[in-house]
Amino acid sequence: MTVKQPCQDRMLCHCLKVRESEVRHKFETGEAMSVPCIVQQTGAGTGCTACVLRISKVLESYPSAVSPICMAR
Ligand code: FES
Repeated sequence: MTVKQPCQDRMLCHCLKVRESEVRHKFETGEAMSVPCIVQQTGAGTGCTACVLRISKVLESYPSAVSPICMAR
């Protein structure tokens, strides 16, 4: 019997091929501190929008994920 390991870097946005690691990197480096910023900078959530809740859940794992400031490039 094999034990399934949890995916270390799951695909958050299947439409735009954005992985959880990219979202976490954007947040942890201060490049994108909110869901709208993540959407703007990665394109995630601009397709079917099914991933917006998944992105939000990732950001909720950080206590400081409330800043409305978006540092667009
Ligand atoms: S899964 Fe992200 S826009 Fe469709």
